[in-house]
Amino acid sequence: MNVQAIKITLPLIVMGGLAYLLFSPSKYVGYAPDQPIPFNHKLHAGDNKIDCRYCHTAVEKSAHASVPPSSTCMNCHGQGVASGRPDVERLKKYHNEKKPIQWIKVHDQPDFVFFNHSRHIARGVDCSKCHGNVAEMKIIQQVESLNMGYCVNCHRENNAPNDCSTCHR
Ligand code: HEC
Ligand code: HEC
Ligand code: HEC
Ligand code: HEC
Ligand code: HEC
Repeated sequence: MNVQAIKITLPLIVMGGLAYLLFSPSKYVGYAPDQPIPFNHKLHAGDNKIDCRYCHTAVEKSAHASVPPSSTCMNCHGQGVASGRPDVERLKKYHNEKKPIQWIKVHDQPDFVFFNHSRHIARGVDCSKCHGNVAEMKIIQQVESLNMGYCVNCHRENNAPNDCSTCHR
């Protein structure tokens, strides 16, 4: 490429990057992948009022919220709850064969972003602020963009740290 071409294309690339940063990632809103076993949050967290933390045990203590192993499910489904339903029988099969259920991630930040659940929970930020009303969702889906603007705006409103190194290390 000659110098002239670089002079023209380089600013275009930079502008494109900035536009992407500012306008893009509501791209994940509505993402609701098929799971190995359809797991119904409305049935469990809504109708049967099982606390989020019963399954997402790490959410108050660590950066990651953790998705439960099948042994957590077996606390109820190993005792005959909903026995005979095809998906429950499949769940038991996974458990008895010691095969981990490969849940597909719904929310997924890029590796260069640092996020920490426990810091938010400790400050009283409710799950629904970022995940919507999960207790009403049959199939969980991403409802907020969770892009940089979303994070930075809330940090500004709450006097939370907002320098680049807070979220990029
Ligand atoms: C605290 C008890 C409890 C735990 C723990 C639990 N469940 Fe359930 N589950 C229930 C109840 C109650 C029902 C509904 C039974 C009914 O509708 O009569 C149910 C129903 C189901 C069904 C059947 C849904 C349908 O409509 O056919 C599936 C599948 C299921 N659970 C999967 C799971 C999985 C996977 C886990 C672990 C991640 C889990 N459950 C953990 C109590 C529990
Ligand atoms: C009985 C266990 C159980 C309970 C109770 C439960 N969850 Fe979950 N949750 C799961 C399982 C299993 C998955 C993975 C499967 C899926 O994504 O549907 C999951 C997935 C999620 C995800 C998506 C994770 C990802 O991959 O990005 C979020 C967010 C979530 N749960 C929030 C909540 C909230 C908020 C509550 C309380 C209102 C709650 N959960 C209650 C078992 C549970
Ligand atoms: C301030 C926003 C925010 C709040 C509040 C929040 N989450 Fe999350 N959650 C996220 C983000 C962002 C991700 C994706 C993290 C990643 O990919 O590294 C995520 C991911 C998850 C996951 C997938 C596993 C993981 O850690 O990556 C689960 C499960 C989950 N959240 C459950 C919960 C529950 C339960 C609560 C409330 C007790 C909650 N979240 C509160 C933003 C939030
Ligand atoms: C609902 C408002 C809200 C949203 C949305 C939010 N945050 Fe926060 N965040 C806070 C508050 C308030 C604190 C300060 C907690 C404290 O004082 O310990 C915080 C703290 C943090 C910290 C710890 C800062 C430190 O001191 O090291 C990180 C990292 C962080 N947030 C990342 C994110 C990321 C990444 C997102 C977007 C995916 C996000 N936050 C979305 C309110 C929010
Ligand atoms: C409160 C958290 C937070 C703070 C503070 C923050 N960022 Fe980000 N940043 C994010 C998140 C979240 C993403 C990923 C957005 C996505 O996945 O769409 C991101 C993405 C980016 C990207 C990549 C954009 C792309 O192409 O996807 C760049 C570059 C960036 N940030 C630079 C910065 C700079 C420079 C600062 C300081 C002025 C800063 N960030 C401060 C949360 C933050």
